[in-house]
Amino acid sequence: DLTFSVAGAPAPRSIRVPPGVTVFDSASWNGIAIDSTCGGHGTCHKCKIQIDNVVGSINGQRHEIPVSRHDAKTFTPDQLAAGWRLACLVSATRDLTVDVPPLTTRPKAATVGVGRQVILRPGLQKRYVELAEPTLADQRTDLVRLLDAIDDLELTVDLAVLRTLPTVLRRDDFKVTAVISDEALIDVEVGDTSKIRYAIAYDLGTTTVVATLLDLETGTPVAVSSMLNKQQPFGGDVITRISATMMDPEALPRLQEAAAATLRELAAEVCAEGGVDPGHVYEVAIAGNATMTALLLGIDPEPIGVAPFVMSTATFPPVPATELGLEVHPGARAFLFPSLGAYVGGDIVAGMLASGIDRDKRTRLFIDVGTNCEIVLTDGDRIVSTAAPAGPAFEGGAIRCGMRAADGAIEVIRLSATDLPDGAEPVTLQVIGDVEPKGLCGSGLVDAVAELVKVGVLDSSGRFIPEEQAKEVAPALADRLTRIGEERVFVLYRPTPDAEPGDCVVLSQRDVRELQFAKAAISTGWSLLLTELGLEAGDVQQVLLAGSFGSYLSPASAVRIGLVPSLPVLRIVSAGNVAGEGAKMALLSVRERAGAIALLEEVTYVELSDRADFNDRFVEQLAF
Ligand code: FES
Repeated sequence: DLTFSVAGAPAPRSIRVPPGVTVFDSASWNGIAIDSTCGGHGTCHKCKIQIDNVVGSINGQRHEIPVSRHDAKTFTPDQLAAGWRLACLVSATRDLTVDVPPLTTRPKAATVGVGRQVILRPGLQKRYVELAEPTLADQRTDLVRLLDAIDDLELTVDLAVLRTLPTVLRRDDFKVTAVISDEALIDVEVGDTSKIRYAIAYDLGTTTVVATLLDLETGTPVAVSSMLNKQQPFGGDVITRISATMMDPEALPRLQEAAAATLRELAAEVCAEGGVDPGHVYEVAIAGNATMTALLLGIDPEPIGVAPFVMSTATFPPVPATELGLEVHPGARAFLFPSLGAYVGGDIVAGMLASGIDRDKRTRLFIDVGTNCEIVLTDGDRIVSTAAPAGPAFEGGAIRCGMRAADGAIEVIRLSATDLPDGAEPVTLQVIGDVEPKGLCGSGLVDAVAELVKVGVLDSSGRFIPEEQAKEVAPALADRLTRIGEERVFVLYRPTPDAEPGDCVVLSQRDVRELQFAKAAISTGWSLLLTELGLEAGDVQQVLLAGSFGSYLSPASAVRIGLVPSLPVLRIVSAGNVAGEGAKMALLSVRERAGAIALLEEVTYVELSDRADFNDRFVEQLAF
């Protein structure tokens, strides 16, 4: 643990830190600002802290925080003995108590993700400099003249910069702004443009892609836009898209171009909406699952789709955004989130970052509900994750009246078993777009089943009770229990009083079975993870429901059908689009980006399918 006493803060704060992370990083990850201009690279010598217990012990052995050569240059021997060190050079190898002095410059912060405070330290920096003009006595090259003015960073230089440098420097008396992406000088602009810097965060979903244009100066979103992934014609899920590449050698480049076109169109939309020149977008971050990321990069996804499910790589180098087909600044780079496994991809790593799953001591369960459901559990110390194939039920697939969460989808359902006073309806529906119901989306499906279990029309095995029994148990609803052919159905919406069941929005017995299998897959996943960490369901202090479907689930219904552990509903929280939030964080702070990569070391992936107890647990979890 690290305990920070921050100058001016009312009380010290204790923070759990993964071993080996620097004091600077852990402070930054937790919204505690320490002076710095180099962003933790050990070159600015500004990140001064005082460690109260600079001498302590590890396993009974005396341990003193080492003095680096940078510390020796920065502090006097007396200061070193009193515990002064540079925060970015101290690793948390044991519990430390740290005093943080007042800031000499005040960094800005933004609230992102699930209540995360991110101190703005974008990888994309701009530096305005006024250079001395060359003379016969000072014949330094243009490049050296510029780099000398930015001597706290060791920069590489893109060739494109060298081509324009002589002209740009001389256009306004050597007053220029250097555009720096991580350690690379990607452009030099005439005059002071230091306040103009934008980036785009993408959530590259299999179904929907969301783009957020961010002002890196203030950390605020300027415009947001979303559209269906243009890969849809190749299939609705990752498996059909992988199959397409296996059957047709032309499919991979076409899928790659479809993804690029989606990102490109969204970039144009958000720039137009925000009134921002696309040339001022200097960086992008992309959070997608392992298959979406592979397809965007033109990497053959076949090994992801067949056992033993192996990715070509878990991490990616920075990729020029132009290579992804994006029309933004030509020097812009794309950060692609790393993946933990073939089915716990970069979108989930981004989600973990946004929810701070590795940053506190609570026992927390993160569930991204979808066709492939990703589950992460932490006991405040270890973090385990797995993937559960839930099938298409939540996306409306394989459900008789299933549909996507679009206009006309029933999303909330409330049932009363007995007649209500004043002629109130025993069935109340909430429909997206406030239009006539056309079908049932995933959250409506969960609600329908949960309500039917509540009123007793579905028994705990998931079977509709006999019609005669329904008249006693739920008289106000009994006439809705009917059949289409041989199959038993419950009518949720009748367009006209005498409409045939086939023309109504119904929930069928087979739909209930589909949901039962999906929820059993998910609950088997989290229950085996609980066993892995030696926990009981009641130990879970917070459940985060994530993803475009999970975020809209009613916590009470999710508990009632057993999709999440049986906990007070206040412990179940909608996390929203955490993948997109994680992508924003990676753009707003290089330390957060490093945190995303660090998650690969911190999280253990648990393969469920080869566990001996999987089948027994699955059968147990089928019941409502
Ligand atoms: Fe610059 Fe530590 S942050 S030296």
